[in-house]
Amino acid sequence: MKISIFGSGYVGLVTGACLAEVGNEVICVDVDQGRVDMLNSGEVPIYEPGLDVMIARNFKAGRLHFTTDAKTAVEHGLFQFIAVGTPPDENGSADLQYVFTVAETIASHMSDYRIIVDKSTVPVGTADEVRARIASTLACKQGTLEFDVVSNPEFLKAGAAMNDFMSPDRIIVGTDNPRTTELLRELYAPFNRNHDRFLTMDIRSAELTKYAANAMLATKISFMNELANLAERLGADIEQVRHGIGSDKRIGYSFIYAGCGYGGSCFPKDVNALARSANEVDYDAELLKAVENVNTRQKQLLFQKIHAHFKGDMSGKVIALWGLAFKPNTDDMREAPSRALMESLWDVGAKVQAYDPEAMEESRRIYDNRDDLIYCESPEKALEGASALVVVTEWQVFRSPDFGQIKKALREPVIFDGRNLYDPIQLKREGFIYHGIGRGSF
Ligand SMILES: NC(=O)c1ccc[n+]([C@@H]2O[C@H](COP(=O)([O-])OP(=O)(O)OC[C@H]3O[C@@H](n4cnc5c(N)ncnc54)[C@H](O)[C@@H]3O)[C@@H](O)[C@H]2O)c1
Repeated sequence: MKISIFGSGYVGLVTGACLAEVGNEVICVDVDQGRVDMLNSGEVPIYEPGLDVMIARNFKAGRLHFTTDAKTAVEHGLFQFIAVGTPPDENGSADLQYVFTVAETIASHMSDYRIIVDKSTVPVGTADEVRARIASTLACKQGTLEFDVVSNPEFLKAGAAMNDFMSPDRIIVGTDNPRTTELLRELYAPFNRNHDRFLTMDIRSAELTKYAANAMLATKISFMNELANLAERLGADIEQVRHGIGSDKRIGYSFIYAGCGYGGSCFPKDVNALARSANEVDYDAELLKAVENVNTRQKQLLFQKIHAHFKGDMSGKVIALWGLAFKPNTDDMREAPSRALMESLWDVGAKVQAYDPEAMEESRRIYDNRDDLIYCESPEKALEGASALVVVTEWQVFRSPDFGQIKKALREPVIFDGRNLYDPIQLKREGFIYHGIGRGSF
């Protein structure tokens, strides 16, 4: 099948590569000429395990193309995917300008029936607006072409995106036209062989499903963080509580880790955008606001612990920071807890020696060169001369370090464990002062 994808970011590239992998002819479009040039010269602008290999294979096979030429892309694909960003605007709502620009671009070049598939995360009602804008652009051209608009939200997890796309838990398709449903069923058939994961529904419900999924996951995290803060004050250990409740099948073990807050390009913005959508229909979404407030507070927790430990004497202190990415296996630092921590540390005159397996280049892009942020070539180098170690991202490489070496390298044997990776008893035995999250019984 012929497919065009507008937006060559995390979602657009993974979608493009996976659809090409099963034999489709895919054109990925982006307005960023630099990004398209990189892709055409064999470089992949983001880190996602397995993506580079799949792009290279399909690019070489001539099934995957990258361009800034929207007209060619609109002529090419029966399916026109929208996979552009929907960042928060100044009041927290989803900024839909990129989605609408793509809709109008598609309409301005359309000369035949097209299915516009919205993969971006967008508020309920966006498909209606996309449809209206396409119709109005077509009307200006004095044309009355047939087209359909479909909501097909993306549920991939950064860091495991290739597998999530190739073997999805579900494929949600919101449509009001049975013919479109069948065409999408055909498109997704290669990813739907093991058992039927294809779920069709009305467009508005599909749009809301994506927000509901992210809001539910964010709620689980904030709930556990709230409990962790309580455990700390009540002399209980959130890790033992986690095992205790996870064993209940109705609750389960996933997404109930306490930590230093969630980040990324999706949870913070989607929880906020859903709360804003609620406002617009005169509903006060109290739970959603609390989820986000708890998270904002949680992102300050590591700093507060560090500040309290050093009794506010932070000026000139060097802090070793392990993990910049908002989670392991990605270089994405959007809304990452590391950013809130580093910015607070800099405000009080501390310096950061950071190591991350993938996100240091992204950090350089965000923060440029500054004297109070030193990038280190290994986790061990980051420790040298530092007054404490802070673990912010739970990369595998940080899970079982040589504590003897850490103790030797640090000025003081202090560890702030923002992901509860380590055993407080073992660390105390090794002579460390250990600060975890919600570990009040140690
Ligand atoms: N990143 C994730 O893990 C993830 C997961 C599920 C859903 N989503 C949603 O998918 C959407 C895309 O997210 P992302 O992380 O891939 O974004 P991204 O910022 O990585 O990529 C968006 C790309 O769109 C391009 N773009 C902007 N305007 C364009 C236009 N008019 N024509 C062509 N390209 C254009 C940008 O240059 C950029 O390369 C968002 O709505 C997001 O919420 C993201």
